[in-house]
Amino acid sequence: MLRKTDFGPDFKWGVTISAFQNEGAAHLHGKAPSIWDAFTGRPDIIKNGDRPGDTCDFYHRYEEDVALAARLNFGVFRFSISWPRLLPDVTGEPHPEGAAFYNRVIDCCLANGLEPWVTVYHWDLPQELEAKGGWTHRDIIGHFAHYTRTCARLFGDRVKHWIVMNEPMTFVGMGYFMGYHAPGRTGIGAFLPAAHHAVLCMAQGGRIIREMVDGAKVGVALSCSYIEHVDDRPLNRGAARRVEALLNRFFLEPLLGMGYPTDAMPALHLIRRYMRPGDTEMMAFDFDFIGLQYYFRIVTRFSITPPILFAEEVAPASRKAKLNLMDLDVYPKGLQHLLDFYGRYPQIKSIILSESGVCFPDFPMGGHIHDHQRRDYHRTILHIVKDGIKKKKLPIHGYFAWTLVDNFEWREGFTPRFGLVHNNFITQQRTIKDSGKWFRQFLK
Ligand code: BGC
Repeated sequence: MLRKTDFGPDFKWGVTISAFQNEGAAHLHGKAPSIWDAFTGRPDIIKNGDRPGDTCDFYHRYEEDVALAARLNFGVFRFSISWPRLLPDVTGEPHPEGAAFYNRVIDCCLANGLEPWVTVYHWDLPQELEAKGGWTHRDIIGHFAHYTRTCARLFGDRVKHWIVMNEPMTFVGMGYFMGYHAPGRTGIGAFLPAAHHAVLCMAQGGRIIREMVDGAKVGVALSCSYIEHVDDRPLNRGAARRVEALLNRFFLEPLLGMGYPTDAMPALHLIRRYMRPGDTEMMAFDFDFIGLQYYFRIVTRFSITPPILFAEEVAPASRKAKLNLMDLDVYPKGLQHLLDFYGRYPQIKSIILSESGVCFPDFPMGGHIHDHQRRDYHRTILHIVKDGIKKKKLPIHGYFAWTLVDNFEWREGFTPRFGLVHNNFITQQRTIKDSGKWFRQFLK
């Protein structure tokens, strides 16, 4: 039996969305293009030829959506600011329309009794900055500081919870190493500087917000995966250790003042090439919380490529794993191990599960949308969170569902749906799914 009270009176219950995935209005009211506008404009990039278009039109429908989050009895609404909407002229003053939009969203949250949690950066870098090197160019640090200061100055009177960056491993790894996400760059020579600059920006962003916003609670949101080795042979164990260092430690440990995890991946020393004197100290910041986002398990084995990592994934389909609509191995139990893993860092004061969700098929029937698999997934995960708090005494203080309304799933387009609320992308009609109804009841 799962009860809301098991999680304690101060536990934060939230839903999360992001600017590019939800807003639409890519060219309205002075917004400049982001790398995702440019990337999705290329032919044949997005699955099924999808284009983000209006997506779920949060730009015009934020009142309805914020009210929906409140109706489902959540207490936190996490959303991100679009950098090129707020600062189309990267170095200058904020655009009045961009600032007004986020002011309206924040005020609407407060009017609905929802605590606004702002993500400063959820992957939509201004295209103008990408043209100058994007995350690989050290100048990004100054630009990011200007952007963060602008957010803190405009919204810090009402927003007290800040997530400086969302999943650096995803946007750096997929965007600057694998070329699968925007801006579509590849190779270690792009990955390492982009990663190092992202770390510096997170820590600096934390310092800026703490200094400028009275009473701020500031954190970052990091992706994590449960890693297994295919068998116990030392080569494969070593592979798993490296993958774990890359996916679960690489962005966290420098922030905690531990430097990069070169113990498990000696070749990571190459990142020193992009470091300047003083960077090791500048990378560290004592965040109020660390956001963790767990979606899938990876089973790995030794491989001679790629360099540095020398590991590859054993395809989930070949292992008969339970797959979601993105062919990822859905394994809720992995979270148990990850919570134990992160619980061993004494520097982490508080953990927020700042995103958690799944894309399984929805079944529309007689005006209802049945999604028992999604409902069960959240329930299973919540049992694990509850055990983490009660039995293991881990400092877990929040759970945010990804996501409120079906939205644009990056490179995968509109097919994988994660929403607790179904969206008809033609009529923009929202219908609460069974999973959303479950939360409404559970959180009552
Ligand atoms: C990201 C979201 C994404 C979700 C589901 C997370 O990695 O932060 O933007 O939609 O996963 O794939």
